[in-house]
Amino acid sequence: MSTFRPVARLSELEEGIPLRVEVDGRALAVVRSGGEVFACQDTCTHEEASLAEGEAFDGIIECPLHGARFDLRTGAVRSLPAVFPIQVYEVKVEGDDVLVKLPEAQPAAGSA
Ligand code: FES
Repeated sequence: MSTFRPVARLSELEEGIPLRVEVDGRALAVVRSGGEVFACQDTCTHEEASLAEGEAFDGIIECPLHGARFDLRTGAVRSLPAVFPIQVYEVKVEGDDVLVKLPEAQPAAGSA
């Protein structure tokens, strides 16, 4: 099960400048590029850099540490040194709300 969750306001997103948000302990980078809004995992698959500290252009996000690039639509690697794709999430915008489709939070172990 997945549900759309509000993660940011459209008015706080500047073109090409990612915003780091945390939802249920999951860190995401949310970014506006070319008038579209994208969301992906915040942690680069190369090492542990925060993609939200990088920048985005033409539907691509670039890692600030070693410059790997990922496609914000598919998560695919567009430039080394990363070799593994990132997780991307479906986004919808309703008014000023940016909503991201996330899996339901797993109940904590032993809480059932
Ligand atoms: S940590 Fe992202 S490219 Fe190295």
